[in-house]
Amino acid sequence: MTKIGIIGAGAMGTGIAQVAATAGHEVYLYDANADALQRAITTLRNTLDMLAQKGKMTESAADTIFRRFHFVEKKLDSLRDCGLIIEAIIENLDVKKGLFDQLQEVIAPDCMLATNTSSLSVTSIASACREPQRVLGIHFFNPAPLMKLVEIIPAIQTNGKIVEQAQAIIQSWNKTTVIAKDTPGFIVNRVARPFYGEALRIYEEGIADIATIDWAMKEVGGFKMGPFELMDFIGHDVNYTVTETIFQAFFYDPRYKPSFSQKRLVEAGYLGKKSGRGFYDYNENVIKPRPNEDAVLCETIFERIGVMLINEAADAVFWKVATKEDIDLAMTLGVNYPKGLLKWADEWGIDTIVKTLDDLYHVYHEDRYRCSPLLRKMAKVKETFY
Ligand SMILES: NC(=O)c1ccc[n+]([C@@H]2O[C@H](COP(=O)([O-])OP(=O)(O)OC[C@H]3O[C@@H](n4cnc5c(N)ncnc54)[C@H](O)[C@@H]3O)[C@@H](O)[C@H]2O)c1
Repeated sequence: MTKIGIIGAGAMGTGIAQVAATAGHEVYLYDANADALQRAITTLRNTLDMLAQKGKMTESAADTIFRRFHFVEKKLDSLRDCGLIIEAIIENLDVKKGLFDQLQEVIAPDCMLATNTSSLSVTSIASACREPQRVLGIHFFNPAPLMKLVEIIPAIQTNGKIVEQAQAIIQSWNKTTVIAKDTPGFIVNRVARPFYGEALRIYEEGIADIATIDWAMKEVGGFKMGPFELMDFIGHDVNYTVTETIFQAFFYDPRYKPSFSQKRLVEAGYLGKKSGRGFYDYNENVIKPRPNEDAVLCETIFERIGVMLINEAADAVFWKVATKEDIDLAMTLGVNYPKGLLKWADEWGIDTIVKTLDDLYHVYHEDRYRCSPLLRKMAKVKETFY
């Protein structure tokens, strides 16, 4: 079986290493920081022991999987026999490019090189290699062992065969793959922006408080977590940075404009659950999503965030970021949305969505509420997605 190299033994690298070793591969896990590697060893051992205790695997299976790990501290050339190397280091373009430049000196000629970047250009990372055709994006979701979805992102230089081979390996790990164009945020991190952005907007305008917005999205919309709970859970440093990166990467398209409320939380160090305080206070007086008797208000909140999500998904189809099927699959498996957004669009009626977006545009005259040309064209000829 192909030997797998993982570079970066943080949250993602450790999770991906677990997935690959469980699927039967020898895994070479490298980190430039000895403490990080030590933490990964402890995490992997504890996780496998816990799975054995819970009866998800036998103790001997857990030991067999653990023996497949090779923890590499200093020598990058220990990865020379790997057939696929997945990079999961810090989200910094120059550092990633430096690593890929270094890697090409030590790896096998037929080794595939993947980046797990969330928001950087795969094409730009690939350009650091003499053979950029062997580079692609393989984007796992956190926690990698639990999340079914993996986005596969060919760079413009990537050889089609490499995409097929990489996809086959990832699918053999019991993951569902979708293909995304190398554009900012790929599928999930692009299409999900309004879930946070429009919720923040509704809050900042004073239309409703966070507890009501969260409640509406859960109770009326059927989402597992409300936008504010989810941002607190992800961490505002991470969530805000993704928003800001995508905003810049889209040449400052107002649709992706970050929010001052969230920026202030980051500045204050109120990073969410991990720091004890974000939008909610986790130390005392936790205000949970709270029922609101104003059914019209709750319905309006859900509709407004819902149409913005659908508009983003439709626009991703319009710009050929991915197929409609892959977009629906990505949002249900990557961020656990209760339903595919384009399936939802059909149920709500394309006409209704266009009208709701146009009503918002009419009030605000802001580009963020512009309706995707695809929806407009579909409404004209009464077409549906499915
Ligand atoms: N955390 C998420 O939810 C998530 C989800 C999908 C993708 N990603 C992406 O995955 C990558 C890793 O994210 P993470 O959350 O695991 O980060 P992390 O901070 O938990 O881990 C990064 C690890 O990389 C190591 N590292 C940094 N520079 C290195 C170098 N030059 N060589 C070798 N090791 C180096 C660090 O010591 C650290 O252990 C990023 O590109 C991120 O955007 C993160």
